[in-house]
Amino acid sequence: MFEICGLISAKDISESYHPVKNERKKEKIHMQLLERLGIKHPIFLAPMAGVSTPQLAAEVSNQGGLGSLGLGASSVSAAREQILQTQNLTDQPIHLNFFCHQSSSLNNGITAQWAQYLKPQFEKYGAEPPAALNCIYPSFLDQDDFLQLVLETKPKAVSFHFGIPHAHQIQALKNANIVTMVTATSLAEAKAIEAAGIDIIIAQGIEAGGHRGIFNQHLDSALLTADLVKLLKQHCHLPIVAAGGIMNGHQAKQLLDLGADAVQLGTAFVQCKSSNANEAYRQALFQQPVTQITDSISGRPARGLINQWHIAVDLPARPSVPAYPYAYDMGKQLHALAAKNQDHGFGAFWAGSNVMQIRALEAADLINQLVLEMLQDLDS
Ligand SMILES: Cc1cc2nc3c(=O)[nH]c(=O)nc-3n(C[C@H](O)[C@H](O)[C@H](O)COP(=O)(O)O)c2cc1C
Repeated sequence: MFEICGLISAKDISESYHPVKNERKKEKIHMQLLERLGIKHPIFLAPMAGVSTPQLAAEVSNQGGLGSLGLGASSVSAAREQILQTQNLTDQPIHLNFFCHQSSSLNNGITAQWAQYLKPQFEKYGAEPPAALNCIYPSFLDQDDFLQLVLETKPKAVSFHFGIPHAHQIQALKNANIVTMVTATSLAEAKAIEAAGIDIIIAQGIEAGGHRGIFNQHLDSALLTADLVKLLKQHCHLPIVAAGGIMNGHQAKQLLDLGADAVQLGTAFVQCKSSNANEAYRQALFQQPVTQITDSISGRPARGLINQWHIAVDLPARPSVPAYPYAYDMGKQLHALAAKNQDHGFGAFWAGSNVMQIRALEAADLINQLVLEMLQDLDS
């Protein structure tokens, strides 16, 4: 089925993705992006903290896409181990991803109210909510240990979610010739990314699975991926990577035609054997493929499969949620407790709104299938 990929050279395929032959400038940007990153196909594996693995990243990179590791939830030593493992599995380019959230201090009143509100959920399993919450994910902004790790391990690219790194961090990455990328969900965020001297914008639409990349969690333009790509193409000069709701090559090709230089897919890869998703998550992807955004799980809005968080927690009487990532500490503890009792209803099963189009394909086959579908649309 995938012979077509073998019959056409990678360069032919890459050149073909952008068929608007009279739009030389756009085509040039697109090719420049592939060349700059050293990849064959304009397809990125979305970094997915907790779900990414070295195997998954390497499979995507070895197949000509850009594999990635979501390291926002890892300690420096765990991150180092994952990076080294990935580099042992592939000599192709990979990208690393970190969180750049503004750290907030914990409001004790809000935390106490939240614990009280979730008490009945904990009590179902004979437990009490935790008395104190921890900042389980440090921000890349708060320390340079992760920066040092990136400089030491020299990935091709590094991306950031929830905000922009400090100027000295961007400069250090530039000096090391590491490509920088930041998620934007709005024109204002994209403009700030350009002004900061970042190389590539990841345009995340509202369909996207996982956390919204919004800089200010109370300000969300909620643009669809296609609308965001069109808006950014019109007003920004940086290359754009479209992310959100892309499950097949036809959707990917439409976004490239709108001006995206590459696409980034997360949900489509969660079901791959080499992802870290547990069995309950894998089953839910295929059996309950409906999503909703909530900030109850982590303290920041994120799209996931509808479960007890949306049904039993997001009720009209719900009080304010503690700040990210403190709320996530509570959310993870509730999930672990429920899961121990064979209840997987409190999992953070992140998924995009097009999850019902998910296919059971291993990573290399998925890349091949995406390429094939993109090429089919060139002929029609
Ligand atoms: C399971 C999962 C985990 C994610 N974790 C991260 C992450 O750690 N860092 C990040 O920048 N984006 C993360 N995202 C968002 C993706 O980068 C991307 O925006 C999204 O997957 C695109 O939408 P799609 O899931 O419909 O393909 C995650 C998405 C999913 C599905």
